[in-house]
Formats: sequence, C-alpha cells, structure tokens
Amino acid sequence: MRVAFLACPETLPAALGGAAVRRGDAFEHDLQIAALRPAIKARGGSLTEIEWRSPLPDFAGFDCVLLGTAWDYQDHAVEFLAKLEALEAAGILVCNPPALVRWNLDKAYLRDLESKGARIIPTLWSDNPGLDEIVAAFDHFGCDRLVVKRQVGAGGMGQHLFALDELPDPDWTMGHAAMIQPFLPAIKDEGELSLVFIDGAFSHAIRKTAAKGEYRIQSLYGGKEQAVTPSESDIAVATHVVRAMPGDTAPLYARIDLIRDIDGALMVMEAEAIEPYLYPEQGPQLGDRLASAIKARLEAN
Ligand SMILES: Nc1ncnc2c1ncn2[C@@H]1O[C@H](COP(=O)(O)OP(=O)(O)O)[C@@H](O)[C@H]1O
Ligand SMILES: [Mg+2]
Repeated sequence: MRVAFLACPETLPAALGGAAVRRGDAFEHDLQIAALRPAIKARGGSLTEIEWRSPLPDFAGFDCVLLGTAWDYQDHAVEFLAKLEALEAAGILVCNPPALVRWNLDKAYLRDLESKGARIIPTLWSDNPGLDEIVAAFDHFGCDRLVVKRQVGAGGMGQHLFALDELPDPDWTMGHAAMIQPFLPAIKDEGELSLVFIDGAFSHAIRKTAAKGEYRIQSLYGGKEQAVTPSESDIAVATHVVRAMPGDTAPLYARIDLIRDIDGALMVMEAEAIEPYLYPEQGPQLGDRLASAIKARLEAN
C-alpha cells in the first residue's frame, strides 16, 4: 500500500521541493497529510507527497495515487487529466478515477446532476459573458446582486460579484466559459454546508462561513468552519448527489457543498470529486476511513 498524494508547488512543503512561499491555505495540505499518514502506516503502507507534474517514472513505486492538493489544475486541465490517464494506464489505482475527474472538471456537470433530480442554484450559462449578458441576467433573475464564476474553476478564483449599481465596465468580458447566478443571501447567514462522503457513505459535515465583508467561505479569504450534525433530510439530499455521480463504484471521496434557498431547501453549489479539502479536523475519523477504503480497493484490484 504505497500511496502517492498529489500536490502542486504552492501546497507542497518547501523541504519537499515546493515553492519558497506556499499558498495561504497550504496548512490544509499539512492537516490532510497528518490525518492520513498515520492511518496508512497503521495498515502497513506509506504516504508520499509528490508534485503532480513529476515525470511518469517517478510514480513507478506507487500502487495508488490520490489527487490530494493539486490545487492549480484549473489552468492546466488537459495536462492534469492526461497525467491521471497515464498513471491509470500504468496500472496504478487513481482516486478518484480520470473518467470521474473529466466529468467533474467542468461545472456543466451541475446540469447533469439536475437532470438526475438534484436541485442546483439557478444558473445562466455563457461562453464568455460581457456587460450585456450581465444586465440581461439581472433582468432574468430579478435580483440586485450576481455571482459570475468560471465553469472550470476552483477556490473562488477569477470570480466576480456584481451589483445593479456596480456593473462591470462596458469593455469587460469574463474571458472564460462562465456561470451567472443570483447572489444567495444564505452565504452570509448559515453559510455553506459541506458533507464529506468516503466510499459513498456519509462521514462528517461542516458549516463554512465567510469573513466580515467577504462572501467567499474559503480559508484563503478568511472563511471559518465548524463541525455540524446535519439532519437526516440534509444527508439524504447530499447522498442523492453522490449516487448521481457517474461511475460503476462510489467515488473514494467526495465533498458535496450545499447552500439553502430562501425556502429552506438545499441546493448544490458544487459536488467536488477532484481535489476537495476533506476537513480532517472536523472529522477525526477521516484518516482511518480513507485508509481502510484505499486498502480494500487495492486488495480487490
Ligand atoms: N450564487 C452564489 N451566492 C452566494 N455566494 C456564492 C454563490 N456562488 C458562489 N458563492 C461563493 O463563492 C465561493 C466559491 O464558489 P464555488 O461555486 O464553490 O466555486 P469554487 O469553489 O469551485 O471556486 C462559494 O464557496 C461561496 O462562498
Ligand atoms: Mg466551492
């Protein structure tokens, strides 16, 4: 059970060849490693952090590759996917598998989930929106604030918040395929609810809230999280989403991010099966659950 944990230069510790200055949320990489390494060791295995761009021969000794904290793949999606496919072709167990990653790379997967009965945030899809489409979206949704985000994106990067009295410049364009959504006030109140699933089973949940003056809940922007015990019906909503993900088997790990509509129903913000942070501090069983699931998969291989 020799497991590789993919990282990027900004999350990899400097001592292991990472950048001299790490990302502000690189501590999450360290927490995830600290949760997983002893659990894998206890099962007779090892966990090695490795930059995802490392050449194929560097992966020769591994049985399993976890996508870990490859948090810079968004602008290198083709290269990232090609590497995962090459690793799989080399006989390594890649979790989650490239086919699921391909589906999960583009937030267009939300439309797929919607067609399978999931409730998603009302969204207008555009190849490259400009001012006209933003104005039309305000009309369409009848709201006074809009969130515009990249279809292929992560970590809230390259995202815009526009208000009716704070429109983009006339020459502004997004420059990417994008999603336009009404700003949901629940983000400032209850925040975002994340349910972590290991091997298709609910593991633990957190509530994530934004810093004062912010609406993005990620730790990079000062967001905070706390462990919560979701209701049975909230778990059922997230379980439905996990089951609607493509693949013959449940994903090894998935994090379902939800936000409440004004009527109290949960909507899917994201269903993360690529490299989600899995909040080990709020789910102390995470390391053991993940290590057991990896072991079972390797034995079945
Ligand atoms: N429609 C929305 N209303 C309010 N806040 C939003 C909305 N969409 C996104 N956000 C905020 O922006 C963050 C990042 O958006 P998200 O869709 O999760 O993309 P990603 O995490 O992949 O960058 C969310 O965690 C949330 O804090
Ligand atoms: Mg998100």
